[in-house]
Amino acid sequence: MNIVITGASKGLGRAIAEKFGEDKQGHGLFLCARNSEQLRAFALELQGRFPRTNVQYFVCDMSKQEEVQAFANWFLAFNVKLDVLVNNAGQFIPGSVHNEAAGALEKMIEVNLYSAYHLTRAVLPHMMEARSGHIFNMCSIASLQAYSNGGAYSISKFALAGFSKNLREEMKPYNIKVTSVYPGASYTDSWSGSGIDPKRIMEAGDVAAMIYAASYLSPQACMEEIILRPQLGDL
Ligand SMILES: NC(=O)c1ccc[n+]([C@@H]2O[C@H](COP(=O)([O-])OP(=O)(O)OC[C@H]3O[C@@H](n4cnc5c(N)ncnc54)[C@H](OP(=O)(O)O)[C@@H]3O)[C@@H](O)[C@H]2O)c1
Repeated sequence: MNIVITGASKGLGRAIAEKFGEDKQGHGLFLCARNSEQLRAFALELQGRFPRTNVQYFVCDMSKQEEVQAFANWFLAFNVKLDVLVNNAGQFIPGSVHNEAAGALEKMIEVNLYSAYHLTRAVLPHMMEARSGHIFNMCSIASLQAYSNGGAYSISKFALAGFSKNLREEMKPYNIKVTSVYPGASYTDSWSGSGIDPKRIMEAGDVAAMIYAASYLSPQACMEEIILRPQLGDL
């Protein structure tokens, strides 16, 4: 399969890339992130560990529409079928509506919503023509539930869930699957330095395992939602 993963150098995106990388048959992995050194190092590591996988990478800021378009153009130039798109790039900045910094909402919407919206729109014609593919949108428990420190992040993730649900309805006749992924707290760089016990929350690999499993269902089955929480519940 050819698999595009945004925000793939760390955290959940990285775990998803590793999960598909482990597959014996080998896949094409097309990864992006902003920090070129970290992305390059991870791509080389992945290629070394899984020689059957073909790892390609592109440095871009998914919060900027012109860079999203450049990423899409770069991928489309490979002229391969897009089987799995994981709209994962995103950022968590805690805050509350009443006192978060000016511009917080704009920033969260750009990185958490526009990233997925613009990339999906750029590659959809290609997928619709092929009448195949599977799109995963990395929402959050914060897409389902309000928190007192959810603020702009939670608003942007509610919006992403709205995007994902609408896309699911639209894409049914085109044979394109759409899955909204709603993880609770999962230990990634976002949590390092928080003082939280990694054993209290999920592992990035838990989320990756579910996305991997959903991508291998029969053609006639679509896992519409994946909701994952730590065993002890939300923090
Ligand atoms: N971890 C959790 O508990 C949790 C729970 C629910 C939902 N999520 C969602 O899962 C996704 C991944 O979170 P994570 O915890 O894995 O985060 P993370 O550990 O901070 O990793 C984020 C990844 O995305 C890249 N990235 C960030 N901003 C980007 C941008 N503007 N353009 C391109 N790449 C960008 C980062 O690389 P660069 O910094 O080099 O760009 C990195 O590879 C996010 O959408 C997040 O909201 C996470």
